[in-house]
Amino acid sequence: MPERTRIDIASLMGKKQRGEKISMLTAYDHPTARLLDEAGVDSILVGDSAGNVVLGYKDTLPVTMDEMVMLTRAVTRAVRHAFVIGDMPFMSFNVTPAKAIVNAGRFVKEGGAQAVKLEGGAAVVRTVKAIMGAGIPVCGHLGLTPQTANQLGGYRVQGKTAAAAKKIFDDAIRLEDAGVMMIVVECIPDRVAAAIAARVKVPLIGIGAGPHCDGQVLVINDLLGLSFGFSPKFVKRYADLGRAISRAAGSYCNDVARGKFPAKAHSFEMEDNEFARFERLVRSAPRSPLR
Ligand code: KIV
Repeated sequence: MPERTRIDIASLMGKKQRGEKISMLTAYDHPTARLLDEAGVDSILVGDSAGNVVLGYKDTLPVTMDEMVMLTRAVTRAVRHAFVIGDMPFMSFNVTPAKAIVNAGRFVKEGGAQAVKLEGGAAVVRTVKAIMGAGIPVCGHLGLTPQTANQLGGYRVQGKTAAAAKKIFDDAIRLEDAGVMMIVVECIPDRVAAAIAARVKVPLIGIGAGPHCDGQVLVINDLLGLSFGFSPKFVKRYADLGRAISRAAGSYCNDVARGKFPAKAHSFEMEDNEFARFERLVRSAPRSPLR
């Protein structure tokens, strides 16, 4: 693979300007992050989707800062090239700007992330500016924002009416004016995403937002076939690791049950004379008073 340098905000902006697509995937652990980085992904998002896909919560709302910082640290320890973004969990940024700065700082200082992502439009502009003022780059997130799915009436496509689409468009401009380095748009009509991508100068990364965005992001567990339950229409599955893991674990259990594992090849040997000495030592060892 050709030598790659560390991806930064300028290189992501350069890709948008040259019309080169940006690839982003989520990761939540060290081995996955390493493999994605080596595969050449431009950016890794340590998403709060961790709540659903690796922590076993029913949605993203219970995810804590401590959990996100731990996952982010595992990812950044592995990454050499990709731009790593930590996702601010519910209530970590929407209480006060001061609290948001402290929590965003934890992603960078403890987690090693290069930027943070937070959900929301005009309502979070003050918070975005506060975090940016502390020197931390921010990525916005518009459209279907899972942390406020209760307000949005569930997990459904956003911006389907002209007025709703215009609101997302305006929010994107507000976020850009506030200084975000990138915007993620989730589950919006492709033509609305195209209009936003053409209007804003920062990269627009889509998930369920059609092919005209400047880049794409998917949840890694969806891409690898490692997620359960409902699969959104925008997901493309590139592998079926869930089935591969089930098969491998089943074979292992069978092998253990039948004494086929471990074989000689997986065992450690001892010199005959050492083993003979060991047996003599065992025979002459005094019995434990408990026996
Ligand atoms: O948490 C996440 O994984 C995300 C992506 C779906 C964009 O926010």
